Amino acid sequence: MTTRREFLSASTGAAVGLFAISRGHATTMSKNCLADCSITEFESRIAQGDFRGMTKDMLPTPCIVVDLDMFKANVQHVADTAKANGIHVRPHVKIHKSVDVAKYQMAAGAVGLTCATIAEAELFSAAGIQGVLWTKQPVGINNTQRAIALSKKDPTFMFVADDPQVVDWVEEAAEAHKAKVRIAVSVYAGMARQGIDCGQPAVDLAKKIDSSKHMQFEGFMAYSGAAAHTKGFENRKQKSMEVLAGVRESKDQALKAGLPVNIMSGGSTGTYNIDHETGLSELECGSYVFMDTEYFIVGGQDGDMKRYNDFKPALTILTTVDSEHHPNIITTDYGAKALAKATDQVKDMPWLTVGVQGAEYGALKWNDGDKFPKLGDRLEIYCTNLDQSTNAFDRYYVAQNDKIVDVWPIMGRAGAAQR
Ligand SMILES: Cc1ncc(COP(=O)(O)O)c(C=O)c1O
Repeated sequence: MTTRREFLSASTGAAVGLFAISRGHATTMSKNCLADCSITEFESRIAQGDFRGMTKDMLPTPCIVVDLDMFKANVQHVADTAKANGIHVRPHVKIHKSVDVAKYQMAAGAVGLTCATIAEAELFSAAGIQGVLWTKQPVGINNTQRAIALSKKDPTFMFVADDPQVVDWVEEAAEAHKAKVRIAVSVYAGMARQGIDCGQPAVDLAKKIDSSKHMQFEGFMAYSGAAAHTKGFENRKQKSMEVLAGVRESKDQALKAGLPVNIMSGGSTGTYNIDHETGLSELECGSYVFMDTEYFIVGGQDGDMKRYNDFKPALTILTTVDSEHHPNIITTDYGAKALAKATDQVKDMPWLTVGVQGAEYGALKWNDGDKFPKLGDRLEIYCTNLDQSTNAFDRYYVAQNDKIVDVWPIMGRAGAAQR
């Protein structure tokens, strides 16, 4: 924790803040406290990238904190494992929506990025990252035109299709705009949400794409969320082999039909060390960079079912206890708007139960005899689902131990889920 003296001496020039807080209480009150502690001053330091003397206890809550060393270890672990297993990594950005995170992934050898929305694809491509794969097919004028425009601007961009009707729409738009697009066929892998039937239907769609002068068939995309979260390593492996049997068959048939199969994309944080055996050529894993409680309990090869030890829990949501009046329950600022969930876990105090008392009000509950937090305490919480939680914030505070060393913006946070 930074003392006021340290923070003051670390900062030069403009007035600096009185941010030394202990358990939520200012340790010293300056006559200029309100001015010194202003959010304007804090934001100006963030904008300048001046983090000297800044520590976790100064952050406005609720907010997301990323442990830089754990994050880097996670990125490296997937990169090393994939390299050893001879499989590429095209990590999914839906988890983090951060160009800064993506740059670490690319530096560690990723062949591109996987995106859930055309907005993500545009952003990451515009940031200079090549090999962006959008894993939803373009439907409607907005998405189709954007997919065509991005293909023209960035010839390394690819997207998927699972329906001949969509391929016709894309063909029409590509013809009108004199574009050439790259398409992978999305095949069913045990999830009802997308994917054409494997085998002949998938190969027929591939042929349709291949026969167009405006389209290039790239291969297949097959993602299974159920396999990703199957509990126990051996069960997960078995499930992955089963749900991807169809995509292996589709590949064999496509090759027999003389089609090129450049990519076999899919996989997840749960199957990153399995998919080199299931027939995939690249991994779309995402959550591994930070980890969430849904993944904590899937179990790794070490058999520990309480913590998936392959990856470190690099992301927490920092919250402040801001009211205490009733037995066995205390109020925090981590409420429904910050996506607090009963399945979250409190770091270092796993016996506490997370609850919601309102949009901006969270609860922590405990049983008689348990150690419990007090008014002014700050706690860190592991969220349940990164895709959702990171979408509720606009920046990551990046920390090494207690010190803030960077801030990474979260893309597109203007209120819309995407645009
Ligand atoms: C299309 C697709 N690929 C891959 C993933 C894998 O992500 P994770 O590693 O976070 O499970 C997801 C997650 O939802 C996804 O939707």
